[in-house]
This record gives sequence, structure tokens and C-alpha cells, in this order.
Amino acid sequence: MRTKIFVLIGLALLIGVVIGIGCGEKKEGRTGARSDVQEAALKTYVAPGDMDEYYLFLSGGHSGQVYVYAVPSMRHISTIPVFTPYPATGYGFDKESKEMLGEFTWGDAHHPAISETNGDYDGRWMFISDNANNRMARIDLRDFKTKQILGPLANVSGNHCSSFVTENTEYVLAGSRFSIPLPKGTYEKAEDYATKFKGVVAGIAVDKTTGEMTLGWEVLMPPFNYDLGDAGKGPSAEWGFWTCYNSERATGLNDKFEVTSTQKDRDYVVAVNWKNAEKAIADGKFKMLGGVKVIDPKDAEGVAYLLPAAKSPHGVDVSPDGKYIIASGKLQSITTVFNLEKMLTAIQNKDFTGNEDGIPVLNYDNVKDAEVNVGLGPLHTQFDDKGNAYTSLFVESAVAKWKLGTWEVVDKIPVSYNIGHLCAAEGDTKNPDGKYLVAMNKLAHGRHVSVGPSQPESSQLIDIGGEKMALLYDSFTEPEPHYAQIIKADKLTPIEVYPKEENKHPQAIWDIKDAKVVRNGKNVEVYMIAVRSSFTPWQIEVNKGDKVTIYLSNIEQTTDELHGFGLNEYNINVVVDPGETKTIEFVANKAGVYPFYCTNFCSALHQEMQGYLLVKG
Ligand code: CUA
Repeated sequence: MRTKIFVLIGLALLIGVVIGIGCGEKKEGRTGARSDVQEAALKTYVAPGDMDEYYLFLSGGHSGQVYVYAVPSMRHISTIPVFTPYPATGYGFDKESKEMLGEFTWGDAHHPAISETNGDYDGRWMFISDNANNRMARIDLRDFKTKQILGPLANVSGNHCSSFVTENTEYVLAGSRFSIPLPKGTYEKAEDYATKFKGVVAGIAVDKTTGEMTLGWEVLMPPFNYDLGDAGKGPSAEWGFWTCYNSERATGLNDKFEVTSTQKDRDYVVAVNWKNAEKAIADGKFKMLGGVKVIDPKDAEGVAYLLPAAKSPHGVDVSPDGKYIIASGKLQSITTVFNLEKMLTAIQNKDFTGNEDGIPVLNYDNVKDAEVNVGLGPLHTQFDDKGNAYTSLFVESAVAKWKLGTWEVVDKIPVSYNIGHLCAAEGDTKNPDGKYLVAMNKLAHGRHVSVGPSQPESSQLIDIGGEKMALLYDSFTEPEPHYAQIIKADKLTPIEVYPKEENKHPQAIWDIKDAKVVRNGKNVEVYMIAVRSSFTPWQIEVNKGDKVTIYLSNIEQTTDELHGFGLNEYNINVVVDPGETKTIEFVANKAGVYPFYCTNFCSALHQEMQGYLLVKG
């Protein structure tokens, strides 16, 4: 009976999504939720020359990038290329970034996470996961550049439930959205999914000084779909949490996957104690799988537990005090609050109702504190500085504000339309700022002048400083933000030139006298300088078939003096920032004379900054 009711509710919600919600409101763009216009304008207007208070880092989804906006103006100020070449900054054209990107020309950038110290953003690095090619990237917030891409990660398939940093950035959490036969490369029939496919959750270790990532540990999991995660904090600092759907272990074999994977009333939140995972590895309780150490929880007690959660949960979010673990079942109208202390007691008392592949399932009634009736289609939760939680409601197209502890819903604001993630100012740290929240909505229709069928996403700025939430501003982004981070601007002090003494490129040169062309058989090395407003040398003469390597140094030490190097018909496009050296490699496989020129407007004589590649046939 209960199952039937849930199926009916699920169906009703799905129908709502398909036919009505959002679309029916299309023409209400101008009359929908709107605060006092003057008040909103005053709160978001940043006068010319003035600075915004916060940075907003939005994931760029399948664009593979990170978009940098400023709050409260919601102005787009930069794009950081991560998993995809980006001609605007020359990313993916020089040897160094090409090597980092490897064989892939795209990624699906999902969840950004700023590094933390004592549970607060420390502004050092930002990590972001690639759902498509199972990688993790690290951006250095000192220069807003991608510095490392780790992966594809062994055994991880669909790195979606990622990236979430532990309290002192000991680990970035990762895992498998899609279970597959392991190790990768193994073939099994889809009929054997339930027994021969496996998922993993993982901790990527981060070097405290350099930020360098290496794989720390992996835990073998049943063939469910691991969806999202969060790291504990304070009393729960040793724990990582992940939601999973499809505890039915279904495939699309007998009926549609969306039907067969939503039969049970409950799926799970996975709780992994990473200290115990470290200990299990140290005690030799692991096996090598895909070349890495993998813990099977049935052989390592204390590493993994399952908390039953409302079916098909999406987000799991830990409260600022670390005491509550909040999971939202997207097919229900409640969000479930688990109590850490009760979870620990249940583990101690072995208060289990069963197990999945040897992982104990905790007794739901004894670990939950509340089922909060937030509204339809709850997905993700963020927090403010006054003990409130904010949950996005996809089906209802709204944000619900509710009180931790009393569990009462105190306010709700409609958004346009169908919100996915939401992000409050430092809202996933130990010390949220309150003040602002950004709703990342999947549909923007009717809220902007038409741009044809390929429409932007809408990111709406909401004031959460008062008792009632107030909509301040409609902003738009290219597809497709999945989660964001909002950090106080004064926590970052980016450099604007690379200091000469920090340039460690072995072929960097700083004096025009040192510019030269060195021939070694068929290898031609060019030591080149770019400085307003010329390249030295300005001509490179080679023979057809020569391998050409250009070490291009921008010797400027002045802010905003970038130079570009575009080579006609050779598909070469590199940008060098002040003080930077990059390596350009290509084979001169076309005879003739090919101009190169500075692509980045640098001076009154920018147009004159040009030269020739002369290739003898
Ligand atoms: Cu250098 Cu334009």
C-alpha cells in the first residue's frame, strides 16, 4: 500500500515536471516573484569602479569550465578553463596544458569545492570533479589557473558524488555514479549487474603544502548509483557521506531504469569513516584492484555503514555544527535529518536491520531526528549564520527556509524555474555568512530576451539577511552550473603578474639578447620573447617536416599585459600572462609562409606585433 502511494506521488510529480511546472508560468516572467524593485536595485548595484563583496564560482557542467561571477552584482568576470580547451586563454594549446588534458577534449565539471582549514574556506585551492571522464582537477586560487588534473581515477565510474573536502582538506571525496564490473576493462553481462557490478567511494589525498592530489583510499560498494556527498565537520569530521539511488540493483533490462530503480521506499546514505579507512589500509585490510588499494567493508569493520533514506535521495548536506546529516529524497516532499550522535550510538549497539554486501544497514527509526516537510522535490540544503537551513525544491520551483532543531519551515520563495543546486555565502562551511543565496535554476524561459532554442541557465540572487527571503536579481550563465561556492572576496588575494623569480620554466629567457633559434637535425627550438609590441625573433625559418618547439616568454611585469601567439592555419593559439613562459610544439608539415601575430590586445601597436614562420618545401 505504502509503495503504491509513493509510486502515485512520484508519478504526479513527474507529470508536474513534464507538463506543467515552469512551462505554464512562461508568460509570468515579468510578474513572478519580485521584491521591491528599488530596494533590490540598491542591494545589487555595485557602482562603476566599486568592488563586489563575494566571489561566486559556478561549475560549468559539460562546458568543462568554471565561471567566476561577483556577488551581489552577479557580473561575470572570468572563466577558468578546466577540462576543455579554451581559446580565450590559450588553454589546451600549449604543451603544458595539453599534457594535463591528455586524450580528452571535454569534461563534465560538476561540484566545485574550495579547500578548507578548520572547516572554513582558506582560499588556497578549488577542486572540481569530472563526471564524464572520472577526473578531479585542482585550481590554484592564487592565479585562478588549473594546475592538476588527476585521473581517470581507477575503479571510479562517473565521478558525480564529488568533490567535497574534509575539514582540513585531508581528502577530496569522490566516487562512482555508475557501477560497472571492476577493474575497468572487465566484461560482464548486464543480466549479472546485481552481483558482478560494483561501485566505489574514494578519498583523494591532498598534500598540505602543494595541494598535489594522489589517490588515498577506495571503498568497494554495492552496485548502486552514488549521487552526491558531503564531508563531516566538527564532531563528524572523520566521516564522509554519500547518497545513493537504485538500491534495487536494477538495470534497464526488464523495464525502464527509472521505473525499476525506484521500487523500494528507501535508498541509502553511505557513511564512511575515513580514519578507519586509513587504519584498514595500514592494517593491510585491502586488495589491489585496478592498481589501487581498495577496502572491502565486509573485511574491515567500522569503515562503512548505510543509513536508510527516502527513496532516490539527491543531496546530502552536513549542518555547520556537524551534528546533522540532511538527505533529500527527490521523489518525496520531506527531507530527512539524521542525528550524528544517534548514528554513533546505533553503530555501537549494532542496531542494524540487515546488510548490503556486508555493509551494516542502520535502524532508520533510531538514527533519524526528523522528517521535515519542506515541499515537493527537495534536492540540496545550505545554511546561514542563524541556524537556518535552505532546501531547493525542484518540482515546486522554490527554496524552503527551515529551522534546525525545531524543524519548522519558516519561509518559502518561488524561483524561476526548477531549481537544482543552491549555494549560500560560505553556506557549506562551519561558519556560513548568511546574507546571500544563489538559486541555480535549470530553466530560464521567459526571463530574458530570446536567444533561440539553446537557452542559458538562470542563477537568481536571493537576499537571506532578513526574516523573509527576497529575490534580488536574475543572472544567466552558459550551461550548466551544478553547484557553486561563494567566498568572501577578501579571503582571496590573486596575483596579477607572475614574479620573475618564480618562473621555473627551464627555457625561460628574460633578455632579448638571449632570443634565438637552435637547430638540431630536424628539431628546431625557438627561444622567443613577447614584449610590447614585438616578438623576438620575428621570423622562424624551418624545413618542411621539422619539429618546432617554441619557448615563449612574456617578460612583462605589468598587470593586464598579456600577449597571445596565433599562427595562421596551424591551429596554434597560446596566451602568455605577464612573467609566464609556455611551450608550443608542432610539426611544420605545410610549406609556405605563415604569419603569426599577437591575439591579445596589448598596446597601441598591438596590430604591429607580428612575424612569420617560413617553411621551405
Ligand atoms: Cu602583444 Cu597584442
